[in-house]
Amino acid sequence: MRYVLALDQGTTSSRSILFDEQANIVATAQQEFPQIFPHSGWVEHDPEAIWQSQLHTLRSVLHKAGVSAAQVASIGITNQRETTVVWDRQTGYPIYNAIVWQDRRTADHCEQLRQAGHEALFRERTGLVLDPYFSGTKLAWLLDHVPGARAQAQAGKLAFGTIDSWLTWRLSGGRSHVTDVSNASRTLMFDIHRGCWDDDLLALLNIPRGMLPEVRPSCAPMGVLDVSLLGTAVPIGGMAGDQQAALFGQGCHQPGMAKNTYGTGCFMLLQTGSEARVSTHGLLTTAAAQFGDQPHYALEGSVFMGGAVVQWLRDGLGIIEHAAEIESLANSVPDSGGVYLVPAFTGLGAPHWDPHARGGLLGLSRGTNRAHIARAALEAIAFQSAELLLAMQADASQPVTELRVDGGAAANATLLQFQADLLGIPVLRPKVLETTALGAAYLAGLQAGVWQGLDELQSQWQLDHRFEPRMSRDEAQQRLAGWLKAVGRVGAWAT
Ligand code: G3P
Repeated sequence: MRYVLALDQGTTSSRSILFDEQANIVATAQQEFPQIFPHSGWVEHDPEAIWQSQLHTLRSVLHKAGVSAAQVASIGITNQRETTVVWDRQTGYPIYNAIVWQDRRTADHCEQLRQAGHEALFRERTGLVLDPYFSGTKLAWLLDHVPGARAQAQAGKLAFGTIDSWLTWRLSGGRSHVTDVSNASRTLMFDIHRGCWDDDLLALLNIPRGMLPEVRPSCAPMGVLDVSLLGTAVPIGGMAGDQQAALFGQGCHQPGMAKNTYGTGCFMLLQTGSEARVSTHGLLTTAAAQFGDQPHYALEGSVFMGGAVVQWLRDGLGIIEHAAEIESLANSVPDSGGVYLVPAFTGLGAPHWDPHARGGLLGLSRGTNRAHIARAALEAIAFQSAELLLAMQADASQPVTELRVDGGAAANATLLQFQADLLGIPVLRPKVLETTALGAAYLAGLQAGVWQGLDELQSQWQLDHRFEPRMSRDEAQQRLAGWLKAVGRVGAWAT
């Protein structure tokens, strides 16, 4: 029996998941690591904590399963995207904490680039908008603020990477400095049409090209595990940003197929095949995971606060003790009582792109209690996702007729029913909710010959539950109008 190991490095925890040749989960291991908030709007991770937690789960999952490293055919990496690390090539140590995708410190830099008239060029080449979400301005910040960093980078002594590159560097004992197209497409430095780093954009951001990793397709030899780690040189054969990996794991390979992942944020991706479709409704054009020679693209809507809203109810407000309690609390009232929670804690992503928006709780009355707030929080996740689908329907050449879902909060039936009600299309939950890890495993397993092609993978997708819309379209539209009114109140709050 051969196995495929997926490393899923997320925003709040590192996980390792071992799959067998039928793509069944054999064992999982998970470890959380600290979130660092040095100032309002700043979010950092310690890259060493990321590496140590990932390594710990890698060892622990093999131990749990009683599987030796020699039985692992290939490793696939999937990761929180955009999060930016710079390290010293000689010592292998980071020069500063990782600046996390949620971090807003470069909002002014983005504004300066916009004022200087560069937005159209960034948009055309990268498919992205000028927002602090992406890596480019975070990397520029590091070079400008860490003493000596720019000179060292210019001398070729520093390496840049998103988390995929950082992990591969460490896993390979410093031999591989690589990334894949799906991760590169989130940096503001990568031309998604030509499939390479873009010198014009690098010049505008003042980034030395020599610090960037080599870009490969997502299903390709990425490096080999250093033997000192597990005693065996296991190949790393797949790599993709977590949202593109989830699209792949959901079997959304045909244009028109879409998925939504309810993780820390919510990320909806629509497969557009070989066409890099340009959004006119606030979505991003991004590289999908690349299997084979031809690039594939997706339209993406990125919402920054999804499942993390539930965490906030637990850790910030303290109105629930465990995340799972939200469903029964929300269901203890028939509706939110006119309350809307707009969780713009780190600004608003798609389709609004307002880094200065902040959260709001609106429509409170003397009758409002914690159950209404819990319900409004759950509904906020669905409202934000509904806005993404509306934008997608407006941008796409053909209507999206159903939505596949995954991620932690997809276990919540109340959320998914409300989602289907708002969207007016069926919401499909698969049996395997670990689609991000599955996507990375598929890429690595295809590379190692464990699986032969996309048809074989697609036939493995199994439905768990289909949520049909029940609400009238009139009511859904009314609810959405209320939501948009609330969103309108929190815009540009922190300016
Ligand atoms: O773009 C950010 C995204 O990749 C984060 O994903 O699953 O860590 O919330 P997640």
